[in-house]
Amino acid sequence: MKRYLVTGGAGFIGSNFVLHLLRAHDDVRVVNVDALTYAGNLENLREVEGDPRYAFCQADIRDAEAMAAVVAAEEPDYVVNFAAESHVDRSIEDPGIFESTNVGGTVNLLNVCRAAWERPGGGVGEHRYLQVSTDEVYGTLSLDEPDTFFRETTPLSAHSPYSASKASADLFCRAYGDTFDFPVLITRCSNNYGPYQFPEKLIPLMIHNAVHHEPLPVYGDGLNVRDWLYVEDHCAAIDLVLRKGRIGEVYNVGGHNERANLDIVETIIRLVSERLDDPEINDGLITFVEDRKGHDRRYGIDAGKIAAELGWEPKTPFEEGIEKTIDWYLAHADWVERVTSGAYKAYYEEMYGHRGAARA
Ligand SMILES: NC(=O)c1ccc[n+]([C@@H]2O[C@H](COP(=O)([O-])OP(=O)(O)OC[C@H]3O[C@@H](n4cnc5c(N)ncnc54)[C@H](O)[C@@H]3O)[C@@H](O)[C@H]2O)c1
Repeated sequence: MKRYLVTGGAGFIGSNFVLHLLRAHDDVRVVNVDALTYAGNLENLREVEGDPRYAFCQADIRDAEAMAAVVAAEEPDYVVNFAAESHVDRSIEDPGIFESTNVGGTVNLLNVCRAAWERPGGGVGEHRYLQVSTDEVYGTLSLDEPDTFFRETTPLSAHSPYSASKASADLFCRAYGDTFDFPVLITRCSNNYGPYQFPEKLIPLMIHNAVHHEPLPVYGDGLNVRDWLYVEDHCAAIDLVLRKGRIGEVYNVGGHNERANLDIVETIIRLVSERLDDPEINDGLITFVEDRKGHDRRYGIDAGKIAAELGWEPKTPFEEGIEKTIDWYLAHADWVERVTSGAYKAYYEEMYGHRGAARA
């Protein structure tokens, strides 16, 4: 049986990952450690609340004592660090929290795991630490060179405070591997989409606004390009890298699916309009707004290494993934409503508040 400690498991990708693990493996223990910031929502994990293989613990990855206690109690084989501040726009407004959580929190977690795993005679046994990183650490590519892609060897060249914090964390992870022989792995993935994404991010925001006939704000000329991957495919990649990846390596993860933001928005408008049979949901809702500061033009990822070494390929074509995603948001209007109104925080209080802050 493998024991996983998942940080940030109440967020978008983390909660999909927890659900993925419990569906994919019978003999597994999954402990979700999350501080429950505005982005953490335990409602995402409602279906596994009673599962004896799963436990939740509210804690901050920057809290050395709390993290050491949970690692000592749970003795995880694998630690997967999703916990982060993840929204580029927020990092432009308030860079400090990104440095604190994404860099300081990661270093704290590395220290806690190192202390727990290091053996007197050297080595760390079968343990593995996986840092969930992003393609944004590589900086930007040009639209004029569509055949150029980020490889694992591409120098880090972050531009936003968010990507700078993620790149710093990656460097600390690599340094712990090189300096302390710490068993670290890093995945760098492109943009994810799918169920349970906080509706401040592009795809759920556009679905929400389209449904409500509200303007769909598009940065600049709308031609910034991102690679999009269905979240379930990312979860499968992370689990595979944890179990089979070579320690010390970085693995890029991507969808072979580059699209301009405007293309994404137009696709959402068309599909939502069709599903709701509502002609008032149309391109007239698109509103171009002042470009994001330092907006990277294009991200394009070469995921050839993980394909060649581990046999991972994205399984969900974009056309299928975006339809599934839109259908999920339309079917879960109550979830979206609770998140946008802030009412989801009351759910935690109701479920866990009276039992004390931390539960393992
Ligand atoms: N969303 C993407 O497209 C994408 C792509 C590549 C990589 N990533 C990376 O994947 C990870 C998860 O991204 P996401 O989109 O699910 O983010 P998210 O914002 O939806 O979730 C982040 C989670 O981390 C928790 N958290 C924040 N600060 C914490 C702290 N100090 N201690 C404990 N928990 C804390 C939050 O409560 C939340 O549950 C991040 O590290 C992000 O950089 C995201």
